Amino acid sequence: MTKTLLRALAGETLPTPPVWMMRQAGRYLPEYRATRAKAGDFLSLCYTPDLAAEVTLQPIRRYGFDASILFADILLIPQALGADLWFVTGEGPRLSTITSAGDMAHFKGKDDIHETLAPIYETIRILTRELPAETTLIGFAGAPWTVATYMIAGRGTSDQAPAHALREGDPETFDALIDLITGATIEYLSQQVQAGAEVIKLFDSWAGSLKGDAFERYSLQPIKRIVTALKSRHPGLPVIVFPREAGDSYPGFAKAVGADCLALDTSVDATWAAETLQPETCVQGNLDPKLLVTGGQPLIDEAQRITRAFRGGPHVFNLGHGITPDADPENVHVMLDAIRSA
Ligand code: CP3
Repeated sequence: MTKTLLRALAGETLPTPPVWMMRQAGRYLPEYRATRAKAGDFLSLCYTPDLAAEVTLQPIRRYGFDASILFADILLIPQALGADLWFVTGEGPRLSTITSAGDMAHFKGKDDIHETLAPIYETIRILTRELPAETTLIGFAGAPWTVATYMIAGRGTSDQAPAHALREGDPETFDALIDLITGATIEYLSQQVQAGAEVIKLFDSWAGSLKGDAFERYSLQPIKRIVTALKSRHPGLPVIVFPREAGDSYPGFAKAVGADCLALDTSVDATWAAETLQPETCVQGNLDPKLLVTGGQPLIDEAQRITRAFRGGPHVFNLGHGITPDADPENVHVMLDAIRSA
């Protein structure tokens, strides 16, 4: 096995960590903006395999990252299930909302999503042919809780209040939604693996707003169900989980869900994580994406501090959240040089 990402995920400690970035294909790159303009809009870009493959490859060409993440979005599953989805430029996603069981009545079953999602599998097949031999292809989906927060509120929310209200006020409907998303996600990711995805990442971006029993029930358990099903269908498949802002629920999480790597957000201290989390699992993270906007010596110092902190165990260098549109593409080279010379 020569691919460095796969080696780290298998638990190997490497002299230099493999590197990729959340949202590495995105608006900070002029070539991305040009391809998106050609597609017309963000969703057309996701559903046009040639163009989606092109934007997936752009950051690989520019920076030679060790891993490539499929270009798609976590909100394509809701759309495939029958929710309305559109993006408002400069604002973000909008979906039809869910306030009662009636709003889900017209949804499709978990096995009926592939007609909508077929172009995504085609993007993966193109990438398996076009990616450099040393680059690992990561497929992904949102974790059920995070996807549910968007489906219920119809948009991104700072406190996920509508999802919490449904969870508390109509647990039967809420549980049915989580169950539907979980089942659909297993089928979707399984098709991604069959098409050529070598690693799967689950994004639970709003995990931090669940506490105690609710965290266990709606972040941890659905993720565990997905990981268990995928690994039984695809033995040896490495899985990265990202329970963002899970705080004191980070320890033990990877093991509890059966994942191979725990992605850390910017709030997690690397020195603490090296002592507490890395002995149980490969860790991924966790440079603050703001440093790719501001650059300079603070970027170099922090990239090297993180690299050195995690040097004693398996580590995948990444950001603690997605790179932002105002990041300077040159700063990514600065980051890479800093990691390699740490
Ligand atoms: O390079 C990559 O990381 C690949 C593709 C990818 C996108 N979204 C493309 C995208 C991935 C892995 C995602 C994940 C995603 N999408 C998450 C989980 C990770 C996280 O950020 O916490 C979430 C919550 C979403 C939902 C979503 N998609 C939002 C809230 C937004 C709007 C905010 C924004 O950044 O514009 C999107 C749009 C989106 N998804 C863009 C991209 C490149 C920007 C769209 C554009 O080109 O205008």
